[in-house]
Amino acid sequence: MLWFLLVAALALLFIKAYRNTFDVHTNHVTIQLASSPHLRDPQDFEPLNILHLSDLHMENLSIDPMRIVRDFSGQSVDLLAITGDLLDRHKNIPKAVAYVEKLMQLQPALGTFVVFGNHDYVLSPLKLAQLKSELERIGCQVLVNQHVTVEHHGQLLHVIGVDDFSTRRSQLEKAFQSVPKTGARLVLTHDPNLVLQMKDYAYDYLLAGHFHGGQIHWPRPYHLVKMGKLVRLNMVKGLHEFDGRPFYISEGLGQTGLNIRLRSRPEITLHTMGGVPQEPFVGTPVQTASLQETAATLA
Ligand SMILES: [Fe+2]
Repeated sequence: MLWFLLVAALALLFIKAYRNTFDVHTNHVTIQLASSPHLRDPQDFEPLNILHLSDLHMENLSIDPMRIVRDFSGQSVDLLAITGDLLDRHKNIPKAVAYVEKLMQLQPALGTFVVFGNHDYVLSPLKLAQLKSELERIGCQVLVNQHVTVEHHGQLLHVIGVDDFSTRRSQLEKAFQSVPKTGARLVLTHDPNLVLQMKDYAYDYLLAGHFHGGQIHWPRPYHLVKMGKLVRLNMVKGLHEFDGRPFYISEGLGQTGLNIRLRSRPEITLHTMGGVPQEPFVGTPVQTASLQETAATLA
């Protein structure tokens, strides 16, 4: 009888944990650029909306891309940012490319930007090159230690893609080489531990993923301990600050290993850079965060 109850409890927990992978949380974060040293008049910076997705993990992904398109179709999405771990297996390259192509129906005016994560590097160099060229064919900009400058209402935005830190592929000097002195700086990278090395590389905002919010965050995400210093600083998800600069860690959209989540949910976040705080996005459901609020929540 005891065995039966134990097995039944575990089965129920597993079912709940699997269902959690469909329960996507939508966040809205506003970052003010009031103290940006690169902008002549930060107060006048025209707000810019960035839709951020991370850790898609095609092998274990429960969220239909058309649901995201529907949820955000009434929003002005200026830029789509994908911060790595699209897949593990090369047979899923077509699936990943088709997924991103559907998201691009949101028609982000400034483009779709992708950086790779540690799982993407499980692919052979040949298959990774295929993934990159397929993403570029549909119109993505895949940034590997390089930057691209775009113009938003006459203002410059430098999108700086730094390759994966956890697999020692980050080359900060190369990525920041020739980034103009003026203009806002948005860094995209997979492993947020990169911020620990960026004292000499100024930026206004950095987006990352990698930790999956623990994914199985119950009773505690002990398995994250080996994933770098930020975890030991209790920075595993949400908005944080290091060296006085804000950065955001997404819980990711897909799962790795087992296709379950406990005390963690798939996440999509709309970030507004610049201007005054905006009205929260009305999606399903809504969580609006400020740096102070998020830090308090995670403490
Ligand atoms: Fe991941």
